[in-house]
Amino acid sequence: MTKSANTMWGGRFAAGPDAIMEAINASIGFDRRLAPQDIAGSRAHAAMLAACGIITDNDAKAIREGLLTVLSEIETGEFPFSTALEDIHMNVEARLRDLIGEPAGRLHTARSRNDQVAVDFRLWVRDQCDQADAALAALQKALLGQAEAGADWVMPGFTHLQTAQPVTWGHHMLAYVEMFARDRSRFADARARMNTSPLGAAALAGTSFPIDRQMTATALGFDRPMANSLDAVADRDFALEFLASASICAMHLSRLAEELVIWSSAQFRFVKMSDKWSTGSSIMPQKRNPDAAELIRAKIGRIFGANVALMTVMKGLPLTYSKDMQEDKEQTFDAADNLMLALAAMSGMVTDMTAQRDNLKAAASSGFSTATDLADWLVRELGLPFRDAHHVTGSLVAMAEGKGCDLPDLTLADMQSIHAEIRPDVFDVLGVENSVASRTSFGGTAPEQVRAQVAHWKEVLK
Ligand code: ARG
Repeated sequence: MTKSANTMWGGRFAAGPDAIMEAINASIGFDRRLAPQDIAGSRAHAAMLAACGIITDNDAKAIREGLLTVLSEIETGEFPFSTALEDIHMNVEARLRDLIGEPAGRLHTARSRNDQVAVDFRLWVRDQCDQADAALAALQKALLGQAEAGADWVMPGFTHLQTAQPVTWGHHMLAYVEMFARDRSRFADARARMNTSPLGAAALAGTSFPIDRQMTATALGFDRPMANSLDAVADRDFALEFLASASICAMHLSRLAEELVIWSSAQFRFVKMSDKWSTGSSIMPQKRNPDAAELIRAKIGRIFGANVALMTVMKGLPLTYSKDMQEDKEQTFDAADNLMLALAAMSGMVTDMTAQRDNLKAAASSGFSTATDLADWLVRELGLPFRDAHHVTGSLVAMAEGKGCDLPDLTLADMQSIHAEIRPDVFDVLGVENSVASRTSFGGTAPEQVRAQVAHWKEVLK
């Protein structure tokens, strides 16, 4: 490597950086991803400088057109990225100077890389919020398709992964539709809060040039300029809000992935995963492994990690900018990439999986899943206090367990040996279909409730 003074600030420096300094300092290896945002920001800035009479219209025109050439060079892969030029901002500006000469040197008037990187990264993260929203909407639609098909398919509901009460497949699918709706609203909230422009904060203190910050804010789709120049260059809470929202969304994805792993096992057989989303084993011919679900479950760790990493980068920094903040990008890029991949894979798996209706029903009917219905019957029909009804039912479950049968298999005489007043109509509530049909409270698992929710979500997601 040649040791020449940096072309951007060579006036102050006699020698160039050590090779290791260059390696630790350069961000071009990853921040080249911000090229479209960097160029959009610079084009808005140049137009504003001309509108405010700070540079000439001709210079602004040359800069704005030259930047489009740079963008197309980057898009076609012919752009000569240089590590010596450190980052995307200086790579773009240096290339602009090659292309248009002297006017390129006027672009950086009333600006610093500090507000430049803040605006670039905000634009990038804002776009990721939109992409997450679209991917989540697609996943919700996939779940809704499952919910609609199986609004009245009975399956076991679990607590502690022990059979609790029968629920419907549709109800279970809709639980995730609700979770992913809240995830969408978290991304939307974060997006609304981050949508203010740091451009024009310059290095940290603002600028003595008569700039128009509202003009650049509007051009870049921001609601308004940020009101404090120190805050504008110093904070990365927008990226942290994205990562926090991504972490919660990832946690939801991981729980669903975990259920798919369990449900597709030979012990459960609740779902059959499509061939498209399964792999075989090189040695065990019977295997169908739910790799995509497992990888989603695992990839979530990176997203949590990125959130913790950036929190840790930021927590001890005095205002305003410190180079530490260059470490905001790689983690966020990786988290966003993996979130989008996980969302796309989950949508595909959910769309293509087949619920095993008979197995769901058989599982729902075992494990004394209607014991609560029996206790409720004793309260409703015989006027027992719930605690007593719980006790009587517990004795009946123990009796069934002792006989190796399920509650509906007990005879009336068996039942009456525990509580004399039990009548034959008790058997009506012991069937799983009746059990789910009875849970008509708002938000409950009764098919009529589930269908009403399906209709609601079809309207919302239309
Ligand atoms: N590459 C830098 C970053 O990502 C750009 C800002 C550099 N600013 C500075 N004062 N050195 O943070």
